[in-house]
Amino acid sequence: MTQNSQVTYLKDYQVPDFIIETTDLDIRVGDEYTSVVARLKVRRNPASSEPSSELILQGGKGIKLQDVMMDGLILDESNYDLNGSELAIHQCPEAFELTTECLIQPQLNASLEGLYKSGGMYCTQCEAEGFRNITYYLDRPDALSVFTTRISAPKASYPILLANGNPVDQGDLENGEHYAVWHDPFPKPAYLFAMVAGDLVRQDDQFTTQSGRKVDLQIFVEAHNSHKCDHALASLKRSMLWDEQNYGREYDLDLFMIVAVDDFNMGAMENKGLNIFNSDCVLADPATSSDAMFERIEGIVAHEYFHNWSGNRVTCRDWFQLSLKEGFTVYRDAQYTADTYSAAVKRIDDVTVLRTHQFAEDASPMAHPIRPASYIEINNFYSVTVYEKGAEVVGMIHTLLGDDLFRKGSDLYFDRHDGQAVTTDDFVAAMSDASGINLDQFKYWYSQAGTPTLAVTDHYNAINNEYSLTVVQSTPATAECEVKLPFHLPLRVALLDTKGKELPLQLQGSEPVLGNNCVLNITQAQQTFIFEGIAEQPTPSLLRGFSAPVKLDYAYTEEQLLFLASKDQDGFCRWEACQRLLIEATERAMGFMSQASHYQLKDSLVTMLRTSLVDETLDPAMVAKLVQLPSEAYLAETQTIVDVDLIHTAREAIRLAIATALESELLYCYQRCHDTGVFSQTGKAIGQRALKNICLYYLNALDQALYQTMAQDQYALQANMTDVGAALHILIGHKNSELAAPLLADFYQRWQGDAQVVCQWFAMQCGASRPGLLGQVKALLDHNAFDIRNPNKVRSVVGSFIRSAINFHAVDGSGYAFVGDMILKLDGFNPMIAAGLAKPLGRFKRKTKDRQQLMVSQLQRLNQAELSKDVFEVVSKALSAS
Ligand code: BES
Ligand code: ZN
Repeated sequence: MTQNSQVTYLKDYQVPDFIIETTDLDIRVGDEYTSVVARLKVRRNPASSEPSSELILQGGKGIKLQDVMMDGLILDESNYDLNGSELAIHQCPEAFELTTECLIQPQLNASLEGLYKSGGMYCTQCEAEGFRNITYYLDRPDALSVFTTRISAPKASYPILLANGNPVDQGDLENGEHYAVWHDPFPKPAYLFAMVAGDLVRQDDQFTTQSGRKVDLQIFVEAHNSHKCDHALASLKRSMLWDEQNYGREYDLDLFMIVAVDDFNMGAMENKGLNIFNSDCVLADPATSSDAMFERIEGIVAHEYFHNWSGNRVTCRDWFQLSLKEGFTVYRDAQYTADTYSAAVKRIDDVTVLRTHQFAEDASPMAHPIRPASYIEINNFYSVTVYEKGAEVVGMIHTLLGDDLFRKGSDLYFDRHDGQAVTTDDFVAAMSDASGINLDQFKYWYSQAGTPTLAVTDHYNAINNEYSLTVVQSTPATAECEVKLPFHLPLRVALLDTKGKELPLQLQGSEPVLGNNCVLNITQAQQTFIFEGIAEQPTPSLLRGFSAPVKLDYAYTEEQLLFLASKDQDGFCRWEACQRLLIEATERAMGFMSQASHYQLKDSLVTMLRTSLVDETLDPAMVAKLVQLPSEAYLAETQTIVDVDLIHTAREAIRLAIATALESELLYCYQRCHDTGVFSQTGKAIGQRALKNICLYYLNALDQALYQTMAQDQYALQANMTDVGAALHILIGHKNSELAAPLLADFYQRWQGDAQVVCQWFAMQCGASRPGLLGQVKALLDHNAFDIRNPNKVRSVVGSFIRSAINFHAVDGSGYAFVGDMILKLDGFNPMIAAGLAKPLGRFKRKTKDRQQLMVSQLQRLNQAELSKDVFEVVSKALSAS
């Protein structure tokens, strides 16, 4: 068995044999070597099931062990073994002090895990297993320790020295060096450790907690970004207040710091008291960041802040429990965004991500439950399943318990487990204990992968005024589990009368009237619910608010969908009805494509879209959602055989048909929403920009000079990045690709000094929905602004290219070969990023036969190479499904 294929299993979990009570780090930053002295106060763990006197510490490849001391005495090599990535100390007493000295070279660390250099600054990323690249350690999330960190470095280049917790000492040393000492009083696992040394400027703010404590808020950035911090600081303060008001959670240190770094594998990291952010996920101003970026930043700032309780104060026992902190925290940040902005729009966005990407993952060789049972490389499980489906699972608990009991449950969870490393079972137990609701069956959501389908049929009996709903659930087999036990899930429903009014609901065999928007407990493979006193044939509004992460299969008639699209009070269901109609229209267009080129929309669909477009009383952000075409990626998700070219042409045909039928309405709506006054970021202004830009997108399907000019003018106005980006996006996707060229040149000219905007520039070009992009994409790899070591640049070029389905899936296989090349290149120094790019190659199942073959042969080619664990896991799982 090669090292690559070593599997870690949840069932093998054992408590650690040792406890590290305190961890004192002395980190001396140097140009060639950085030295790390770790002084650990260790004792045997009384809870260990098979006590051993051997202490085993993990260490990464890049560290050079200099010395090991126990209780002040230097150990010789008979007292310990150093084999590869493990340091084993023999015959340890009950309690002792272990000191190691290691040398590392952060400036050579391109994996961006552990201590590394980003531009001119040193920074860390330790989750999940990066701390072992800094020093030998018990690098597992259930080893909690109190950290004290001393950092020293040359003062001129690194005037700012930061670590977790509170500053306790600082001063100057000889030779232009200086030092700082930080102490974090909260015991934490090593994955939450962070330090930074750099030349940074600081933006300050303050927050007073509900109990009256003043907390200093500081954002550290490179000087040229100092004007981009306001939004993150405002978001942080809103999040802090929200967590107090909604979960009763107060911040617990006197200082909360955020540092922005340019080279970062992920979006951001919740290190205790010292969050580190990818610059792109924290810095914003209207000239350079779109509304979507502002919203994303607010969500990420909230997310990392919320981890202070859901993740840090209560952490994970092992990495199989990742969803304990990530699913819950994604749920919390979604609630925050829903409360702060539009709940319906946020729900639609989240459902779109889930159904487009998580459903695809569930149907792929990498399918896994939100609590996986095994992994080769944990980095591969920071997935849409663990995150987004994990959040849905928490949301279902909330729906099943109701607001009050859910809050009681979360209070109990935090109180009961404060300072502990726990499991998803502990989370569910707290919810169940606090509410008295049995969640045993519900727990299958944690152990079974796959997307359930709910097949719903109904029957109306006019004689005894009874309406029945029969629900059949089924879940396809996934690699880890063939036969699935039925899930427990909440199905939220309403029954609408002919005017669209919600009828009061009385279930046969249960006493109370359920109100008119009720939750049905689905627990069996098949269940029938009979509603009494229903005086007319109702229209069912099913899976309201998308109450469970399932595929709903109910044979809605077109008439019913049109009715729901205009009458349903539930924002999600209303939008869903529109989407279904648009999907059906696209499917019909797909049938047409092979025959005539002119495709006629049904009048009823045109009327529905028109009604939304002209209704000035509706929230413009919601109208934008209602009239938006489903993405090519989501359309692909709805097809049994995915023909990416056909999906693309059919969708373009629908776009053209809608533009043709509604030209004047679209133009009027554009003009009405095109606000040339002072830039504003109210919900209304943001919604108007979204709607206006959708109108402009439709109108430019018409290939008329007038609308091209409108887009060019909107670009020329340079009002804000939302409008500029939308105009450019539309022109880049235009049949006449010449239109965009001068604007792209102008854009680069204007913004070449801003890495964030340059990434947008790359992404727009590489993700365009126009065939024949590959040559241009390859050329951009040679652009001097491209840097393969910077994950943001890689994502904006290669990641965007993969998202352009017609190009990634080009029938000659060129897209796959290109991505294969990039994976091999990246895997040599950044396996995490390489593995992320490999996942899409594994999604060949429902593609056309020719493409399946090409994708598999690309995977086979990768499999021949020397791979990291990360890429090996993705490739080998994909190949075993081929
Ligand atoms: N803890 C993660 C960051 C992380 C992920 C570290 C994977 C190491 C490996 C952080 O809380 C997180 O989830 N960040 C997300 C953004 C969030 C809004 C979902 C990210 O980085 O994408
Ligand atoms: Zn997180």
